[in-house]
Amino acid sequence: MGEWRRRVGFSEVTGAVFMLLAALLFVVVAPVRSSAREPWMNKSLSAGQRADLLIRAMTLDEKITMVHGVHPIPVKGYVGYVPANPRLHIPALKLSDGRAGVGNGAKDVTLLPAPIAATASWDTGLLNTYGRVLGEEQWKKGTNVELGPTIDVVRVPEWGRTFESLGEDPYFNGQMAAAEIKGIQSEGPIADANMYLTMNQESNRGKINSVVDERTLQEIYLPPFAAAVSGGDVGTFMCAYVKTNDVYSCENPHVLNGLLKKQIGFEGWVMSDWGATHSTVGSAEGGLDQEMPSDKYYGQALKAAVENGQVSVATLDEHVRRILVTMFRHGLFDKEQTGNWSANARSPKHDLFSRKAAEQGIVLLKNRGDILPLAGVSSLAVIGADGGNKPQVEGTGSSHVVAPYVVSPVEGIRKRAGAGIRVSYADGSNLAQAGSAARAASVVIVFVNTIEGEGHDRPNLELPGNQDQLIAAVARANPKTIVVLNTGGPVLMPWIGHVRGVIEAWYPGQEDGNAIAAILFGDVDPAGKLPLTFPRTAVEIPTSTPEQWPGIDGRSVFSEKLEVGYRWYDATGHKPLFPFGYGMSYTTFRLSHLVVAPTTAGPLPLDVHATVNVTNTGRRAGAEVVEAYIGQPVANGEPPRQLCAFAKVFLKPGETRQVKLSIDPRSFSYYDTAAHHWVSPPGRYTVMVGTSSSDLPLQREVTIESATN
Ligand code: NOJ
Repeated sequence: MGEWRRRVGFSEVTGAVFMLLAALLFVVVAPVRSSAREPWMNKSLSAGQRADLLIRAMTLDEKITMVHGVHPIPVKGYVGYVPANPRLHIPALKLSDGRAGVGNGAKDVTLLPAPIAATASWDTGLLNTYGRVLGEEQWKKGTNVELGPTIDVVRVPEWGRTFESLGEDPYFNGQMAAAEIKGIQSEGPIADANMYLTMNQESNRGKINSVVDERTLQEIYLPPFAAAVSGGDVGTFMCAYVKTNDVYSCENPHVLNGLLKKQIGFEGWVMSDWGATHSTVGSAEGGLDQEMPSDKYYGQALKAAVENGQVSVATLDEHVRRILVTMFRHGLFDKEQTGNWSANARSPKHDLFSRKAAEQGIVLLKNRGDILPLAGVSSLAVIGADGGNKPQVEGTGSSHVVAPYVVSPVEGIRKRAGAGIRVSYADGSNLAQAGSAARAASVVIVFVNTIEGEGHDRPNLELPGNQDQLIAAVARANPKTIVVLNTGGPVLMPWIGHVRGVIEAWYPGQEDGNAIAAILFGDVDPAGKLPLTFPRTAVEIPTSTPEQWPGIDGRSVFSEKLEVGYRWYDATGHKPLFPFGYGMSYTTFRLSHLVVAPTTAGPLPLDVHATVNVTNTGRRAGAEVVEAYIGQPVANGEPPRQLCAFAKVFLKPGETRQVKLSIDPRSFSYYDTAAHHWVSPPGRYTVMVGTSSSDLPLQREVTIESATN
């Protein structure tokens, strides 16, 4: 050292300064170098090996810190937070809501159309992009756990969170959920399948007991969550507020340990919904890995339970391990997380996607006399508060997104109409005025809406306020009336016979007016289809009794069993107003040449495919969704038909394409509660193909000869 110093001519003073700098440098660099030396930071090890090594280095307090959130959150933004552990190089977990965009009051984010609008596209590719947009914006905001999607089957049409869910069919919801989750997770954040399980209403949601038989649980409510794991590889689950068969979701060993972790094979972690934890020992034993948003049951109380032996160290380690394995698997220890809550997450590309998704989700329900697309119109009257400057573009609650801008319907229509068409506007608060505005125009477009959101169900299926009267008054004044619905779910339409057109535009997000105008004027062909049934009357629904919804004495009895959504209409012979899977186009299509192979199958596993030709027989380009349903042998006791495959195809006028469908192997089976597994009894199964659940003109039989389960 002395020799070296003399050679470079350093004085004793500069030497001392040098030593000081070196010491400082050591302090700054040391953690990084030591992190590289920590065995769990070795990227060549598996996520499981890394988690095991890390757990061995953790104190009891450090483990407890991982299994609950902290509240209030010490940083800006987010709705859930687990602090970093610098000693062990564990990054913080930053959780944020996100159904139709980054939630929790974040600014500079994109408001997408509601999830139910996105699924109405029946396009898994679109759902994947929806997830990617959401994931990218969350990551830019610093979020590493994105709380979505909401994938529960819509059982009750009045459910306040229908808009943020995906639909009423287990297979459909599963396909959509998997596509969206893959999109979210490809951008960095870990997705969260919520709300698990039987969370099908908001009324009394903190206490309600879903009374549901095992077969229904297995066949209707579990499959979307199973698909989130098998098809989406989702990293986290959120257990719900409700009870399933007397036991709260977040301490329900059957639901968490049995169905989710053992049967489905979920290897990630389960966090509680906010305030949905009700116990320490019961939850720890029942399968809850993490309490959110704070430490009421999983802080000091859990530490004490471990110290006094009520909860074993092995049980705690298992919860911690699930969290750490998932974090390692998703690269949270290895990726630099530079995002922050103040970042601008928007981009013109995302604005464009928001519009495209809104357009693709719009469902044309009625078009008498081809009133749409609008042609040769000299004046338009836009009527309804929802058409003005405060349109219903999203739902409320944890889904709420701060929209960067909103294109109102009247604005979008005026812009698209241009100078040649006079567009008037009346908010509809005065029926007489609305009537005169309607009379003065060649065509009237009435905008109506529901207000839906977390925490409350809709009181009934009617449009709120005077909106039914408004439509009736306007239609009386001008028969060329088109109704645009901005609703999260079905509504009754007592005026349906008096209007020429009906469009379901859901909650369309920031591009509302542009998307609607594109459909009205025919710039875009409507290609959306209903992901839920629209009933004809208030009582002709699967859950019409108070025992079913909202429940009596805290019990909501799932007595409709498997007959959820269209299954009930098919089984009981009730005709809905608009069936599941229905939606019109401005062009026409023909389906032909259905081939199903093999036509005799077994033993398991079944690998049945169908091909069908789809021809665009009209004069303009458009898209058709081909839907396949299975009818099982009557002895199996299943609903008459169940969705088993679907595909969307875009076609030029006159074009024909062959569409391939892989039939969900599960659709040839039912859950045998005595045997505790799925069985596929020999017999004749019918594959039905068409363009809605009640328009299935092409059919073939598949005979299952021997099915060993
Ligand atoms: C309650 C909601 O049910 C859930 O979906 C949401 O993620 C949490 N609150 C956090 O906001």
